[in-house]
Order: sequence, then C-alpha cells, then structure tokens
Amino acid sequence: MTATEWASSGESTADGSTVVLGVETSCDETAAALVMGGSDVLSSIVSTSIDQHIPYGGVVPEIASRAHVELLTPVIARAIEEAGVEETRIDAVAATVGPGLIGALLVGVSAAKSLALVWDVPFIGVNHLEAHLYAGLLEDPGIEFPLVVLLVSGGHTLLVEMLGPGRYRLLGETIDDAAGEAFDKVARFLGLGYPGGPAIDAEARAGDPRAIDFPRAIPDSLDFSFSGLKTAVINHVRKHGDVSTADVAASFQMAVVDSLIDKSRRAGREVGAKGLALGGGVAANSLLRQRWLEVCAADGVRPFVPSRAMCTDNAAMIAAAGWHRLRSDGPTPLDVGAFPGLRLPVAG
Ligand code: KG4
Ligand code: ZN
Repeated sequence: MTATEWASSGESTADGSTVVLGVETSCDETAAALVMGGSDVLSSIVSTSIDQHIPYGGVVPEIASRAHVELLTPVIARAIEEAGVEETRIDAVAATVGPGLIGALLVGVSAAKSLALVWDVPFIGVNHLEAHLYAGLLEDPGIEFPLVVLLVSGGHTLLVEMLGPGRYRLLGETIDDAAGEAFDKVARFLGLGYPGGPAIDAEARAGDPRAIDFPRAIPDSLDFSFSGLKTAVINHVRKHGDVSTADVAASFQMAVVDSLIDKSRRAGREVGAKGLALGGGVAANSLLRQRWLEVCAADGVRPFVPSRAMCTDNAAMIAAAGWHRLRSDGPTPLDVGAFPGLRLPVAG
C-alpha cells in the first residue's frame, strides 16, 4: 500500500514492533528519533540553533527556519544510523504539525511527508503539546490512569487530566504568561541572559529562597498567573538596588514552584489521580523536580518525572505520540498543513 493509500485507508497499524521516525522542528530545536512500539527509544538526536538566537534575546523565526533546512537531513541520517536499523525497517513517519513557528513547522512537515511518500509508509501529524504529555510517560511503562499532567514550557502552562492515551480534560491553564516565559522575562531583567530558565536555576543555588516573600498563586482556582509575580520582582529590585541577584532568583523560583506544585497537588486530589506527571522545558527545573518527588511520596501517588533531555523539545516524544495517534486514528492525510496556534484536544 502506498503512503497515499495509507492516508485514505484510515487503517490502524501500530503494534509493539512498529518503528516510528519522529521529526520535530516547531521552534529552535531540530530533532529526529526512532521509537519502537511507542516507548522503546532506539535513537534521539537533538540539534539546536539557540546560539544564533542568544544575541537577540529570543528565538528569531527566520533564523530558526533556515537552521532547520540546513540541519534536518543530517539529523535524520544520524538518528537512523544510531538506531542501527535499515531505512526499510521504518514503518511510519511522524512530524509536529503545531503549535509553533509556521516557517519552522513547515520544514519538518514537508520533509516527513516526502520521506513517507518515498518509503511508502504512513505519515502522522502530531500535536507538540500532546507529545510533551507523552514524554513524561515514555521512560516509565507502568502507567495507570487517571493521571494529572503539568505541562510547563516556554509557550504553555497547562494542568491536564489524562484519562487514557488521547483522552484529556483541561483542569487549569495560565491566564497570562507561561511559566517558562516568566523565567525568561525575569532572567532578562536580572541580566542573567537567555534562555532564562537554566540561568535562574543555576543562580538560585547561591541564593536564599526565603529572602523575599513574592506573591503566590490565585487562590480557589486551578488556573495560574505569573504576570503579577514578574512585576513584583521588577518593583522589588528597583526599590532595593543592592539586593542580591541570587536571593531574587531563588525567591522568584520558589514562588513559581510553590504555585505549580500547589495547583497540581490539588488537581491530583480532586480527580483521584494515580500519578502526577511533569512535562515541558520548565520540568527540567531542579527545585520543581525535587519538590514533585517529595509531594508525590507524601500523597502516595506515582511521580512521572522525565529525564531533562525528555523535558525539553525532542523527537522521541513526537514518535511516541505519533505511535499512539496511528493506533487510535490511523494515518494523517498528506494534504494536512501546519497549525501555529494548535491547541491540545481537550474536553472540559
Ligand atoms: O518545552 P520547551 O523546550 O520549548 C517550548 O515548547 O516552549 O521549553 C522551553 C522553556 C524556556 O522558557 C526555558 O527557559 C524553560 O523551558 N526552561 C527552564 C529550565 N530549562 C528550560 N525553566 C526553569 N528551569 C530550568 N532548568
Ligand atoms: Zn516544547
């Protein structure tokens, strides 16, 4: 059956031996990975153009697209080589179709569709946010639903009840800045550079997290807000010119983590979650990871904390989500485009 026929047949094809090539190009990471059976990572290659964006203090879309064009072919070739399999062993090609930068997304989507056509295998369009949810579960096969997943990245902060693969209910989200965005903006204000999350994480190690009592979460809601906290940091530093940057970083980080932990824990109790899972770039934060484990142990639920490499953008999570999508919905039609503002397919 050709890729075009696969696309129109809607046949479900994924099983334990199905090898999916995942392709990720939604932002500044160019990534490819081979994953078997939805969880066995055979290879995962991530190349980033971050160095080219640092002088601008944020990702420049045109630079990101050009970097993807240059990097994607060698990155895919390396992923296949490291997996130690022949191209003919690849059963499907999955690529992020959104959300993300339109030019960047199109590079990966076009390449993945071309490979699916050449190899006569199905193409699967993957939602990047859904893939972040799977990243937390990839390395831990013992999943019991329902789960509460906290997805915290540069563009999103979502609290989701996962009832099963592909079945999500939105419990809370940010009403202003995403958690990663707050880290990036505060780091820029403090002169710690870009990306801000890792910089604040490192600076905070030398500071006192209780030095400054920054405002916490919105009470009585599972929604988040970080804009007021960011303003409080700016006002505090302007008022106290001699304040220690490490103390500000540590106190800010503590306020963000307190709010993320408090709402996730409350959500877990409300839905009777069997486990609490973390996903997205901010899940690489040391304090959040440590507190997550402590809270899960105290509440008697399973923690799912992905390795740092699985928190930030990668293609193993795209291949894993693609495998689940192929199983539940079959291949994606080849005339699908890219969707910069794609949302998580949630109920509630
Ligand atoms: O998921 P991701 O790699 O890309 C998006 O899809 O947005 O997340 C990137 C975000 C950035 O805002 C970055 O500052 C943040 O994740 N981040 C961190 C840490 N490492 C990355 N935030 C806090 N602590 C970290 N260690
Ligand atoms: Zn991401």
